[in-house]
Amino acid sequence: MGFFYQALKKAAGVPTSPNEELVEREQPTFEEDLRDKTAAATPTVKPHRKLSLKFPLESLVAFLSPPVEDENVIAMEQCRVLRARIWETMRHKQFKSLLVTSAMPAEGKTLLSVNLAFALSQIENVRVLLVDADLRRPGLARFLGMMPDKGLNNFLKGDESFDDVCWTLNDSLDFVPTQPVEEDAAELLHGQRMVEFLREAKQRYDLILMDAPPLFPIVDAQVVAPLVDAAVMVVRAGQTSFDLSRQGADILKGKLIGSILNGADVGRKTAYYGGYYTRYGSQAKKKN
Ligand SMILES: Nc1ncnc2c1ncn2[C@@H]1O[C@H](COP(=O)(O)OP(=O)(O)OP(=O)(O)O)[C@@H](O)[C@H]1O
Ligand SMILES: [Mg+2]
Repeated sequence: MGFFYQALKKAAGVPTSPNEELVEREQPTFEEDLRDKTAAATPTVKPHRKLSLKFPLESLVAFLSPPVEDENVIAMEQCRVLRARIWETMRHKQFKSLLVTSAMPAEGKTLLSVNLAFALSQIENVRVLLVDADLRRPGLARFLGMMPDKGLNNFLKGDESFDDVCWTLNDSLDFVPTQPVEEDAAELLHGQRMVEFLREAKQRYDLILMDAPPLFPIVDAQVVAPLVDAAVMVVRAGQTSFDLSRQGADILKGKLIGSILNGADVGRKTAYYGGYYTRYGSQAKKKN
């Protein structure tokens, strides 16, 4: 897990070796994974209701925003790197569910979840489910410019089936939103229904990306972490303290497969950040 602390040190301004990477590298290669994936059986998924989005999905995603603005080129490249590394790790370890969390609020979890989910769904024959697991302050539906009437909260309460709360974003990307709940969110996230939700999702999708709440000061993400296969931690450059991020990493323990340094100053790239920064361009921000 040393690589993770190196990433945190970068975020916190502690000097590190320029060769260290934010997300663990795994074998086999991305190309080999793709080949394996193509040979694998395509999962069958019942069609869900299609969401009508305020903005086309592509325009929300820095990764494929046409026309490409100069400042988005960096984001596109970094998103490709993240996509490849996350997919490599998940495939290699035969993981399917991935929690996207951070130590504190507003570190970029929702923005990165959408970007990554879309990028991962562009891999041939990979079906992705994006889930809003932030039951107190859900942000994904708002980010996508829509307001679905049902979501994870209804499933967890036992009111609705998986198909009733699942929406189609594109051919290979489905979405389970949520509405804010008044009751104890941690209780719902920790219950047997959550286990059932993940079991069902794993049967239908190759990758389940869960946009989670922060690890502090509430416990919601901490109770979901044991239920998922893996977690990545978003660290907002210049914002999150090293100690707090390290505490978050300690809570995630063996689930943590890597960290994402978000929002590092591009101007400070060179030797200090060694190129491992992520900057989401003006398009994603404007539409948010
Ligand atoms: N790299 C970035 N560059 C510019 N703005 C960013 C960047 N990352 C995130 N933001 C902006 O910061 C705000 C918080 O981002 P986001 O909602 O994704 O964070 P979050 O971690 O999901 O927050 P919360 O903990 O409240 O769910 C948003 O307005 C988002 O557009
Ligand atoms: Mg969020």
